[in-house]
Amino acid sequence: MHSMKSLGLLALVPHFLNVGTTFAAFPTSSLQRSLDDQIIPNKFIFEVESEANIPNKRSFTQDLDAVYSHLRARQVNFDIIEEFDEPDFFVGASVLVESADDVATLENLPGIKAIYPVRRYDRPSPATHHIVQGPNDPKLPPIGEAPHILTGVDKLHARGHFGKGIKIGILDTGIDYNHPYLGGGFGPGHKVEVGFDFVGDDFDGTNTPYPDNDPLDLCAGHGTHVAGIIGTDPGNEYNFTGVAHEATQGAYRIFGCEGFTQDGIIIAALFRGVNDGMDILSLSLGGANGWTNSASAVVASRIAESGKIVTIAAGNDGSRGSWYTASPSSSINAISVGSLENSVIPLQTANLQGTDQPSVIYFSLKPLSIEGEWPIYVTSNDTTIIDDACDPLPEDTPDLSQFVTLVRRGTCTFVTKLKNIADKGGNYTLIYDNGNGFTTVALGNYTAALIQAQDGQHLVNQYLAGDDIKVSFPQVGGNVPYANPRGGLMSTFSTYGPTNDFYFKPAISAPGGNILAPYPQTIGTWAVLSGTSMATPYAAGAAALYLTVKGKSPEVARAARTVFETTALTIPSTLEEGALPQTVTQTGAGLINVYAALFSETTVTPGELILNDTAHFRGTHRVSITNGGSSPKRYKLSHTAAGTALTIQAGSNSPELGPVPLSDAAARVTIVPSEFTLAAGRTREVVVSVRPPIGVVASRFPVYSGFIHISSPGENHRVTYLGLAASLKDKRVLDDYDEWAEETLPAVVAATTGEVQTGPANYTFAEGDIPVLVYRMAFGSPRLRVDLVEPTIRLRTTLNPRQLPRVDRPRFTFPSRTRPGSFSSVGVVGTLGEYTYVSRNNADEDSSYSTFPVYAPFFSNGTAIPAGSYRLLLRALRVTGNPERQEDYESWLSPVIGVP
Ligand SMILES: *[C@@H]1O[C@H](CO)[C@@H](O)[C@H](O)[C@H]1NC(C)=O
Ligand SMILES: *[C@@H]1O[C@H](CO)[C@@H](O)[C@H](O)[C@H]1NC(C)=O
Ligand SMILES: *[C@@H]1O[C@H](CO)[C@@H](O)[C@H](O)[C@H]1NC(C)=O
Ligand SMILES: *[C@@H]1O[C@H](CO)[C@@H](O)[C@H](O)[C@H]1NC(C)=O
Ligand SMILES: *[C@@H]1O[C@H](CO)[C@@H](O)[C@H](O)[C@H]1NC(C)=O
Ligand SMILES: *[C@@H]1O[C@H](CO)[C@@H](O)[C@H](O)[C@H]1NC(C)=O
Ligand SMILES: *[C@@H]1O[C@H](CO)[C@@H](O)[C@H](O)[C@H]1NC(C)=O
Repeated sequence: MHSMKSLGLLALVPHFLNVGTTFAAFPTSSLQRSLDDQIIPNKFIFEVESEANIPNKRSFTQDLDAVYSHLRARQVNFDIIEEFDEPDFFVGASVLVESADDVATLENLPGIKAIYPVRRYDRPSPATHHIVQGPNDPKLPPIGEAPHILTGVDKLHARGHFGKGIKIGILDTGIDYNHPYLGGGFGPGHKVEVGFDFVGDDFDGTNTPYPDNDPLDLCAGHGTHVAGIIGTDPGNEYNFTGVAHEATQGAYRIFGCEGFTQDGIIIAALFRGVNDGMDILSLSLGGANGWTNSASAVVASRIAESGKIVTIAAGNDGSRGSWYTASPSSSINAISVGSLENSVIPLQTANLQGTDQPSVIYFSLKPLSIEGEWPIYVTSNDTTIIDDACDPLPEDTPDLSQFVTLVRRGTCTFVTKLKNIADKGGNYTLIYDNGNGFTTVALGNYTAALIQAQDGQHLVNQYLAGDDIKVSFPQVGGNVPYANPRGGLMSTFSTYGPTNDFYFKPAISAPGGNILAPYPQTIGTWAVLSGTSMATPYAAGAAALYLTVKGKSPEVARAARTVFETTALTIPSTLEEGALPQTVTQTGAGLINVYAALFSETTVTPGELILNDTAHFRGTHRVSITNGGSSPKRYKLSHTAAGTALTIQAGSNSPELGPVPLSDAAARVTIVPSEFTLAAGRTREVVVSVRPPIGVVASRFPVYSGFIHISSPGENHRVTYLGLAASLKDKRVLDDYDEWAEETLPAVVAATTGEVQTGPANYTFAEGDIPVLVYRMAFGSPRLRVDLVEPTIRLRTTLNPRQLPRVDRPRFTFPSRTRPGSFSSVGVVGTLGEYTYVSRNNADEDSSYSTFPVYAPFFSNGTAIPAGSYRLLLRALRVTGNPERQEDYESWLSPVIGVP
């Protein structure tokens, strides 16, 4: 992993000057976005080489003390804000420094392993928000249990699994633990057993936190709702039961009533949770970023690697398009969670006789008009059949008018199957799902309905066992509340990945749209909220059930993500029959399927096949399948492509906004072998080779994805792949035009007049008379640097200079022969600022470009810039580019700037 050692002026200047009306000539509400908006000025987290890494062992205090005494010896003024004393994870501190050269000193000290900027994080504001007015509130989903039916948690509850003995730490706004359904108190013996308030009510992310021992949430509500999704006790008026309500909770309050939080506070809370013995840590927070390496993402990843389960919200930036993974959900080993729509509609039940299961839910608003009790007939004995009843049924099929026919979804349309059944006299059909999702489907005029995969498999098995099963369809009283028109689809707000370094984010999705849960009694007692913030505790609760069933151990915890990924369910892109599966860049491996995750006999690894881009393509992977059952199993492997996400607009450098358009161009996949029998207890490897789709245009940066299905009777597993049919190094990172600003970019704007500088200009650097570099990141960049160069520099830049007075032109526009491999051989006078892992801009008016104001005439090491004439040189490294090679950067030279 890269360290983030090079930090420059931008991080050191005061928070961005209040431009207000200063930039009259430039549409400037957007100028407020500088990199300073995402990081805390002057504050850094450094990591020291800890005992673990140093042969002659020193104690933690010596490690840090050595740094402090070096700093004092060099007259550096600093305040220690937080110390992190976790030799297994991270030894370091966050410090506030007073001047530019202090940072230069810090980064050059011996024993410093990495320096991170301190990022700020919002709690993702709920996409929708409604405080419940009472049990008859028409906006209320009619049943609180609906999400549990989608995920199979209902079956875990029916078996008596509620997460007992598991501890879940929630990093959020605190919890109203006095809520009658959240334990009614705090401390040993209560649901919320431990906790800490790291910040106090008044903390807004910029001011001084006032920690205390009481994590009560009376003002914000977010954390109470999150805690309630996991922990709501049964017996309430809404019939909502938390996913793992017998788990105990730790409440780590890291947000005040308003505002945001910071890396250092998140890290401190993560460590407190670890030391309090939490098995699971859940973080419903984050900020769009696109990279895997913020300080809190790195720490969360190490904690996950050590054998804790860490769930983190994928983010609510779905409308802003791809390559926009939130940090810290980008954390490599954490489970990033996307949100699935869950509003509720009434569905119907059919009653069963002659089986141990009393009823099945079928997907219909009204009862099927079928009177009496009917025996069933199955068109195939194989519950993994791919194309059941797609061809005319065999000659020896009985007269189906005497039966309710059971058929498996897949390959051909529902109407084709129903017609083939009707041709044998069948009037009534139940179709069981094949993992594509329990949703509205097109059935023509036939009397038929979809039931869930596991119900269909159960019925087939009972039928084959010779049970005399009868099914009936109550015409009154059979309605149960169930999903909505968009139920089962991704929430449009759910963020799209992948990360810029091509990690698979999110990992999975869980219900997060329209979720009912407790709210602080001071502000409503119950609320319906939507967001990946709601999906994340859902996954944390599911992980608690997993630990109760599989047993707590670091190995079990480390396997959790793969188990949930390999048992997930496909999420379609629309509710139309035949719709492409939604791109994995938004869904991850799919909808969490908790019952299958916990009770499958088969295990499959890995859960993710990362094919990377065309330049770093890894198309062949081994997948390992283990039959953990007690009898041989026959496995069939097949491939389904998800929609290929066309991530970049045609003819533009900018990302497509969400919903990101999909192409049906599919990867070409071979699986060897694709069918085999495995004895009980045996493992077998198969080789999966994926070739990128043809018929897509590389300039759209198509991200293709899909599933290798591993089917055995009664079980469906999958391995999810993700690749880019283009080279990331071809992706432009600096835009040359901002549509909204109607300006060619980059540009230098005079802060006093707001005018774009076209010729040479002198600045006084007094009373706001400074130059501001304005640029637009069309894509993330691993390294961005602003240097001061001689005005006469001969350098071929990748971005054309704007029109300059003729006299200047010859001085820098003709090509120079920059030596290959020579980023550092470009002659610079000095560096003004450097950032690593820069996020892209988005299309919102207030963040469509970035600014780099040169507040004062100093280099980033604190030395004054000598009086004279210079240009600014902006360079941004392309993704996967070599930081040493000038050719891998995009570059731009400013007009001449005079420094007094
Ligand atoms: C809660 O469950 C009870 C018993 O099953 C039922 O009578 C009641 O209508 C349910 N209430 C809601 C709001 O769903
Ligand atoms: C079944 O459908 C046939 C026509 O395909 C119709 O004649 C018959 O009455 C139907 N039976 C029932 C019980 O609805
Ligand atoms: C369904 O029935 C109606 C009226 O009988 C007919 O107009 C329509 O074409 C039928 N649709 C299908 C898909 O068979
Ligand atoms: C399916 O199972 C039934 C009951 O065991 C049996 O009678 C029938 O022959 C089987 N069908 C096939 C195609 O194997
Ligand atoms: C994809 O390839 C790039 C370039 O080699 C590498 O930096 C990155 O880590 C790879 N991504 C993954 C997830 O392996
Ligand atoms: C900038 O200042 C220098 C030195 O005083 C002067 O020679 C030059 O003409 C000035 N340029 C402009 C554009 O005002
Ligand atoms: C700071 O950087 C400038 C420009 O590169 C250089 O001339 C100066 O010597 C540096 N100062 C220190 C203290 O290193």
